[in-house]
Amino acid sequence: MIILDGKKTSSDIKDEITQEVLQLKKDGRKTPHLAAIIVGNDGASRTYVGAKVKACNRVGFHSTLVELSSDTSEKELLSKIEELNNNNEIDGFIVQLPLPKHIDEQKILMAVDPNKDVDGFHPTNVGKMALNLPTFISATPYGILELLDRYHVETSGKHVVVIGRSHIVGSPMSILLSQKRKVGNATVTITHSRTQNLTEITLKADIIIAALGIPEFLTASMVKDNVTIIDVGITRVEDSSKKNGYRLLGDVAFDEVSKKASFITPVPGGVGPMTIAMLLKNTLLASKMNN
Ligand code: GUN
Repeated sequence: MIILDGKKTSSDIKDEITQEVLQLKKDGRKTPHLAAIIVGNDGASRTYVGAKVKACNRVGFHSTLVELSSDTSEKELLSKIEELNNNNEIDGFIVQLPLPKHIDEQKILMAVDPNKDVDGFHPTNVGKMALNLPTFISATPYGILELLDRYHVETSGKHVVVIGRSHIVGSPMSILLSQKRKVGNATVTITHSRTQNLTEITLKADIIIAALGIPEFLTASMVKDNVTIIDVGITRVEDSSKKNGYRLLGDVAFDEVSKKASFITPVPGGVGPMTIAMLLKNTLLASKMNN
C-alpha cells in the first residue's frame, strides 16, 4: 500500500512555484498577488484562509486578506468584489465559502471576473472546464489530478466511482476524469445520496473518490483488493483528548480500507494540502495571463 502524500507533494509544488516566482522577479515581471475575502467568523474557514495567506508568503506571492463582518450585506460584498475586479495589482482572488445565509452565493460567484477567478467557480470557467478548454480548474479536483499524476496512478480505461455530486468536487471530478487528458480517459460512475445498491457499484471500482462528507462512510467491505482511494472528506469530530478539542476524520475508514488498497490518501495530509498548492498554481497562471 502506498500513501498518496499530499503534504509532501504540495510542498514540492510550492518549491517549484517559489523558483518560478524568483525567475519572474529576476526578469522584472510582476509578483503574483492573491486576495481572499472572508465574511464572518467561521472557525474552519478562518483556518483555511489563514493557510492560504501563509502559503502565499512561502512562495513569494503578495497576498491581501479582506475580512468582512458576518452582517455585511450582499451589496457591500458585491462592491468589494467589483473593487478587486478593477484593481490591476490583484491577479486573482477568492471569496471563501460558505457565506452567511443572507447572501446569495451564486450571485457572488458570478460577480467575480472570470479572468481573476482562481477558484474556478464562475460558470464561464466551469463551462470551459467541462469543454476541456484551458481555464482555472478548481483547487480540489485539480489537486486530485495532480496527486494521481505524480504517483503515476493509471486512470485510462479504469473504472472510477465518485461518491458525491457537489459543484466543487464530485461533479467536476467526474467530468475531468472522463475527459481525453493525461490523467483521465476513465469510465466514470457518479453516485450520490439517491444511489441504490452503492456497495455493488463501489465493489467494481478501480478508483474511488469519496466526497460526501460523512466520516468513515466507506468501509473495507465496500471495496475490492488493490483499489485506489482518494478521500476528500474532512469533518471535525469532538475529541476531548485533543488540545484543540477535535480530531479530523475523512469519509473513509482508513485503518481497515488501507489494508486492501494499493494507493490511499490520508486525512489530514492528503487532498487538503493539495488544494492550497493548486490555488497558488492558478494564481501564478492568472498573473502570467493578466500581465
Ligand atoms: N470552501 C471550501 N473549499 C473552498 C474553496 O476551494 N474555495 C473557496 N473559496 N471556499 C471554499
